[in-house]
Amino acid sequence: TKAPRDFRPALHYTPKKGWINDPNGLVYARGKYHLFAQYGPEPHWGDIHWSHAESPDLLHWRDLPNAIAPDGLGMAFSGSAVYDEENVSGLGTPDNPPIIAMYTSHGEQEQQSIAYSLDGESFIKYPGNPVIHNTKKPDFRDPKVFKNPKGGWTVVLAAGDHVEFYGSEDLLHWQKTGSFGPDGNYSKGVWECPDLFPLTLGGREVWVLLVSMGACPENLGSRTQYFLGNFDGETFTCDGSFNKPEFIDSGFDNYAGVTFFGTQERVLMGWAANWVYAGDLPTGEFCGQMTLPRTLSLVDTPLGGPRLSCAPVSDKLFGAPVPIDGSLPGEVFKLTVSGEGAADITLSKGGGEAFSFGVDSSGEVYIDRSRAGLRSFNADFAKPEYGRISAPRFFTGPWTLELTFDRSICELFADRGTRVFTQLLYPSEPYRHIDLAGNAKAEISLMI
Ligand code: FRU
Repeated sequence: TKAPRDFRPALHYTPKKGWINDPNGLVYARGKYHLFAQYGPEPHWGDIHWSHAESPDLLHWRDLPNAIAPDGLGMAFSGSAVYDEENVSGLGTPDNPPIIAMYTSHGEQEQQSIAYSLDGESFIKYPGNPVIHNTKKPDFRDPKVFKNPKGGWTVVLAAGDHVEFYGSEDLLHWQKTGSFGPDGNYSKGVWECPDLFPLTLGGREVWVLLVSMGACPENLGSRTQYFLGNFDGETFTCDGSFNKPEFIDSGFDNYAGVTFFGTQERVLMGWAANWVYAGDLPTGEFCGQMTLPRTLSLVDTPLGGPRLSCAPVSDKLFGAPVPIDGSLPGEVFKLTVSGEGAADITLSKGGGEAFSFGVDSSGEVYIDRSRAGLRSFNADFAKPEYGRISAPRFFTGPWTLELTFDRSICELFADRGTRVFTQLLYPSEPYRHIDLAGNAKAEISLMI
């Protein structure tokens, strides 16, 4: 499989060769960020390992040897990692505490296993695996471990149409403490890759539960929803005053997103694809990429109440915005457009191909890749419903749209990141022109 042209993004993590899906084991430990991923040696899903990369800044990644390989218990499905600084597991020493990864062993059964590292690079499988057994549930995977604020550790994992919580003192012995779901208005797809963490809103602690949902037509493929509520140390309850669950991303291409353990701010990274067409992307020897890392916060919005807001960590790589003169200086840039009422921003190469985004006459933010470039590599990707997508704003009045464009993927952040659209697109040639229609002002920033 050869790519029609080089589609490899500059800012987004991609594997050199082969396949990746979900980000796994996101952890900051000993001065480095670690990113593991669901990895297959060929550019399509299969023979799933955990790959491994590390970074000083979440933006520049260095690949390391694969961390976890399949074994007699099965392939190494998604999971998480923590830094066991107090060595409660006893798998390291007080002077050299371990990084502990919990992953799903996907064999005849899905069960949870542990691997640990003392050097941040090579991983040793725990001889007592699996640490959470399962003989009955067909779906029982994607453990996300975090420090329980009441003491000890908790893992949240996905079990079909709900999530389950397990508690432990030593990260090795786990007891069920609660469950949540089925719930929400997007529950047709099997639940996957949950995450649970606190943020603050007006000085108050609010817990955020992320739940990814496997591909179903109602959701236009695989999407991720979130709930706001409380975690009492044993289980999560959704806050009744919280309007309704929303997608964390209104675009098609942000799935299985989870947050880093051990960072000051809450940083999310997702897999920038959709299971409906992920296997057919025209990128050649590699297939799959991560979203930009995003810092999460909660914002009180006039129309939607408390909402997640995200800001890309990559903003610091871009210089000061300057006015646009109609031509585009390359394939990696950031656009900042402010306006009021309806406006359309269109990127094109002069022929029929064009990609646009903006605010439509009904006041919704939209992004439209239906004429943006290659589409026929997958029958669903080519359908109109996977072309243009829009979502209502949580604010009224003037708006600002920030678009990070990175060759074959873009991320649109609207109204302080309360609406985000992550979108893959494959222009057959780089766009050269930018056009602006409506009452808006646009500026461009280039990488420093
Ligand atoms: C989500 C997912 C997970 C599973 C992994 C397998 O995209 O289906 O539930 O662990 O991918 O690669």
